[in-house]
Amino acid sequence: MSDLTYLESYLHQVDAAPDLTALEVLRVAVLGKQGVLTAELKKLGQMTAEERVVIGPLVHQYRAELTSAIATRKAALDAAALDARLAGERLDMTLPVDAPLAGTIHPVSQVMDELAEIFADLGFAVATGPEIEDDWHNFTALNIPESHPARAMHDTFYFEPQARTARDGQGPSSDGELGSPPAGLGSSPRMLLRTHTSPVQIRTMLAQKPPIRIIAPGRTYRSDSDATHTPMFHQVEGLVIDKGITLGHLKWTLETFLKAFFERDDIVLRLRPSYFPFTEPSAEVDVGYTLEKGKRVIGGSGGGWMEVLGSGMVHPRVIAACGLDPDEWQGFAFGCGIDRLAMLKYGMDDLRAFFDGDIRWLKHYGFSALDVPTLSGGVGA
Ligand code: PHE
Repeated sequence: MSDLTYLESYLHQVDAAPDLTALEVLRVAVLGKQGVLTAELKKLGQMTAEERVVIGPLVHQYRAELTSAIATRKAALDAAALDARLAGERLDMTLPVDAPLAGTIHPVSQVMDELAEIFADLGFAVATGPEIEDDWHNFTALNIPESHPARAMHDTFYFEPQARTARDGQGPSSDGELGSPPAGLGSSPRMLLRTHTSPVQIRTMLAQKPPIRIIAPGRTYRSDSDATHTPMFHQVEGLVIDKGITLGHLKWTLETFLKAFFERDDIVLRLRPSYFPFTEPSAEVDVGYTLEKGKRVIGGSGGGWMEVLGSGMVHPRVIAACGLDPDEWQGFAFGCGIDRLAMLKYGMDDLRAFFDGDIRWLKHYGFSALDVPTLSGGVGA
C-alpha cells in the first residue's frame, strides 16, 4: 500500500508560502498535470478493489485539504498584497495642492465680490431676484405702465404665452395706483427675461420692512448685440429706503463706492439730470477720466467724462406700489453695469470676450480663487 503521509509536508509548505509566485509553483507541483496528487489519483486505477477502498478516500481527502489550503493561503496573500499597495498609494487629501490652480475667477464674479465687500462696509445686504420675471415687477410696479414708451426702449425678451408659469404673487392686497402684483390679477402674468435689476427693488420692498439698504447684482437681458452690448449682461442695483433720505446721501454713497472700487481718492463725479420712470429726480452719473499714453484712466477729469450709472430718488408711486407710505419713507436707487465697471477697472476693451469662454482670455484676465477681495487687502488688487 502506498504511503501518503509525505503529502502532509505539502500542506505545511502551502501554509508557509511566502508569496503568490511560490504558492503557484506549489499548486502546480501538487494539483497540476504532473503534480504529486494527480499521480496518486492515477495510481488508484491500477489498484485492487480492496486497496482502492482504503486508499481512494485518503487521496480525495488530501486533495480537498490541499485545494482548500491553497485557496485560503491565496486569499491571505491577495489581501496582504492589496494592503501593501494601498499603503504605498496613500494620499493625504488634506494637504495643499502643489500643482498650480487650474481655474480662475471670472472678472464679472470678481467685481461682484468686490461690490459686496464695499457695500457690506456701508451696511448694505445683498439681495437677489429671479431672472425670469413678470411684467408687473419688471415694469408696472416701477411706474412703467403698459403704454409707456420706456417698455419699447428696453428691447425686452418676452416668453411665448404658453410658456408662462404660475407665479408666486407677493405684496399688498390693496390695489395701488400701479395695480397689484400678478397674483392679485388672478391669471398667469406675462413673463419675460428681466431687462434690469430694478425689479429686485420691488421684491425687496414687498418682502422687508424699511429701513432697507441692499445691493442686487445679477444677470439682465436685452435684445441688443454689438461691441459694447451683449444680449445678457450684468447689473448691480442699489436701494436705500429710510426716513429723511436726500440726494446728498445718494451722491456721498456713490462717491464712496467708486473711490473704494477704483482704489483712488481723485474720483470726480458729475450728476446729469436725466429721466427714469421709477426715480424722481433722476440723475445719470459720469465719472471723470484722464488720458495716460492715449488710454483712458479713471480719476481726475482732465480727459473727459464717462457715464457709469443711472440713479435717482425712488419715485413716490413706486414706494406706494410696494405698500409703503411715501410721506413716511423716502429713498434713493441706482443701477450700474457690472461688465462696464470691470472693463474700466481691469482694462478690457471688448465686452463680447467676457462671454466667449476663451481659456486664454480667462487665464489672462481671471483671478485666483484664493484672491478674495477684502477692504483691508485692497478690493481686487
Ligand atoms: N434700471 C435702470 C436701467 O437699467 C438703471 C437705474 C436703476 C436708474 C435705479 C435709476 C435707479 O437703465
